[in-house]
Amino acid sequence: MKGLILAGGVGTRLRPFTYSGAKQLVPVANRPVLYYVVDNLVDAQITDLAVVISPETGREVKQSLGDGSAFGARLTYVLQDKPLGIAHAVKVARPFLQEDDFVMFLGDNLIGTRIAPTVQRFARSPELSAFVLLKEVSDPSAFGVVKVDAQGNVMYLQEKPKHPPSNLALVGVYLFRRVIHDAIDELSPSWRGELEITDAITRLMQRGGKVSVETLSSWWLDTGKKDDLLLANDTVLDDWLKAGQEGQVDEDSKITGRVRVEKGAKVIRSTIRGPAIIGRDAELIDARIGPFTSIGDRVKVHRSTVDHSVLMEECLVQDIPRLEDSLIGRRVIVRPGASRHGALSLMVGDDCLVELSRERGG
Ligand code: TTP
Repeated sequence: MKGLILAGGVGTRLRPFTYSGAKQLVPVANRPVLYYVVDNLVDAQITDLAVVISPETGREVKQSLGDGSAFGARLTYVLQDKPLGIAHAVKVARPFLQEDDFVMFLGDNLIGTRIAPTVQRFARSPELSAFVLLKEVSDPSAFGVVKVDAQGNVMYLQEKPKHPPSNLALVGVYLFRRVIHDAIDELSPSWRGELEITDAITRLMQRGGKVSVETLSSWWLDTGKKDDLLLANDTVLDDWLKAGQEGQVDEDSKITGRVRVEKGAKVIRSTIRGPAIIGRDAELIDARIGPFTSIGDRVKVHRSTVDHSVLMEECLVQDIPRLEDSLIGRRVIVRPGASRHGALSLMVGDDCLVELSRERGG
């Protein structure tokens, strides 16, 4: 069985981060989302993997994952010129996939379960043409929704329906046999100009294929938006973070709960409440951090409080009484300005969100 990871797309919902980088590389607990996807496939003994990349962010994805040996995988990169849909990504990966069964995993989706048992179940069920993972959600109209019969077989699928037939959403993990390619070959683009995977699965069933489902009992997080990403960070810190202290923590600092301080990090006169991770060579001086906070590599936090936030590499937060619920990109500086009359002085890129305390300036 082969693996296909989708790491192309546009990422409009996660701007401004996606102007300068791939959304699949946005960190959760200081590791790109994509790494968890590769880990999950490798854990299921699927090591022959293709990664679909876009012309805009492909280089960065390649640099980050390399040849896959660090993960115990062998990676092939497949360039998708334009984000013409998930089924289109399968089409461009056809020369890699050939006639093999494969698992497709969306590169910005995180699930709290290992897929290995599902992969084994699919391997033992030759009568199935496809297998999809579902999750019960409260707002199904934002997702691909599936109607399932009493035996757990798919009856039909709808993409972002106004009147959802169920509350079961498609998680970004699909298992396919080669017949999916025949179904995709018969598709035409949807109203939004994409080759839709829901249409491909519908076509597969029209051709007589049987599609079965498994409903996740653990969490599923689509890291496409800011709040989702913060929630993913909370969940991964809570469920998976291994506590450890490889950096330096001085005697005047206090650490409580599950906290990881990476190599080269310095914690001076600071308090950290877990779950939290402090990246390599980060520097905390007179800081209060956490809970639910990821401090990236080489970040500096001086005389500030940071809570429930993700700070990406090399940011500086200085003299900020309280920063919370924030997602801060690489090399960003957050500090008070020199102005004496309460004015703000900002240098902020396109599509950023700046939310200031209402109490500011009285
Ligand atoms: P989406 O989140 O559905 O699409 P997107 O990346 O364009 O994001 P947005 O809606 O914010 O603009 O994509 C799911 C995953 O599949 C994501 O990792 C990107 C990837 N993808 C491709 O690789 N090729 C494609 O043509 C599409 C549509 C998505």
